Amino acid sequence: MLTFDEIIAWLREENPRRLSRLWNKADSIRRAAVGDDVYLRGLIEISNYCIRKCAYCGLRAGNHALTRYRMTAEEILACTHEAVRFGYGTVVLQSGEDPGITREWMADIVRRIKQTTPLAVTLSLGERSDEDFRTWRDAGADRYLLRFETSNPTLYRYIHPARSSQPESDRIGLLHTLREVGYEIGSGVMIGIPGQSHRDLANDLELFRRLDLDMIGVGPFIPHPRTPLAPDHEEISACDDQVPNSELMTYKVVALARVICPETNIPSTTALASLNRAYGREMGLMRGANIVMPNITPPWYRVHYEIYPGKASSRESPNQSHKSMQRCIEAIGRHIGVGPGISKTFTRRS
Ligand code: 5AD
Repeated sequence: MLTFDEIIAWLREENPRRLSRLWNKADSIRRAAVGDDVYLRGLIEISNYCIRKCAYCGLRAGNHALTRYRMTAEEILACTHEAVRFGYGTVVLQSGEDPGITREWMADIVRRIKQTTPLAVTLSLGERSDEDFRTWRDAGADRYLLRFETSNPTLYRYIHPARSSQPESDRIGLLHTLREVGYEIGSGVMIGIPGQSHRDLANDLELFRRLDLDMIGVGPFIPHPRTPLAPDHEEISACDDQVPNSELMTYKVVALARVICPETNIPSTTALASLNRAYGREMGLMRGANIVMPNITPPWYRVHYEIYPGKASSRESPNQSHKSMQRCIEAIGRHIGVGPGISKTFTRRS
């Protein structure tokens, strides 16, 4: 088991020869713990409405430059049927924090997906009430993704301000609720948020272990011009021990997450692929990841789901996304996983 100091040392490591030991270790742990299958999760970005004002995110309320959309139930269901045709075992329904997504509307969609497809359903709809979580679970939803973004409380409050007259957001608390309600739970962080130190990131990794997460998604922070963390007017500046939002740092965190949580599901994320369009996704899979999330949102909506600029595959059709993922998995000698790809951590626990 890696100690806190060892985690820090790896995060600061720059020597390619020593780093190759980390890559090899992560890759062999991945193979032994979860095998060579790469599971595909079809991502459907169902709404870009958002009532929050997160300092990092392009969907934040107040970004009036963004065209807002919410897909209809029929459009969402059509996408899920496309996911089945592509052979995916899971769909991920993701949105901003959108009160227009009501408890009953969402529950009905989940029920219809579960009735008409064999898909596992993952929800990623932000911070919602316990009652919403329970209703959607009862309707058949299998998993919930909610990144805690950073375990540093001061930094978190700054980048993720509470809504006016609402209590502070407590995503760790919500993750506990989600687990109790019976979901497979996923979380994660951004890498290189201005003000994030190497110690913060090491704490994030230790928190992944303590939460015993079923899924861990990490990606580089990519500044969005219409947010307070835009490149030219970063409100909080880099700290002394600032973590770079680099491709290399992202690989280190993916690899360490695998070493620390061997049996969890780890995606090679789109944010990583956005930093290295040619090989980012493959390299993530070769350094600990076992999941990819092809985007199957209809292209005319997808262009408006601009969390950060320059998102990889933002202009591809679902068919093209599918083909490029397939090629990438085969190119590195791995296989496409069949079925829902339930996390081993979850099966063990239940
Ligand atoms: N750069 C990178 N990742 C981002 N996310 C939101 N904004 C950005 C950004 N500017 C990530 C957050 C969120 C997930 C859906 O996307 O971690 O949880």
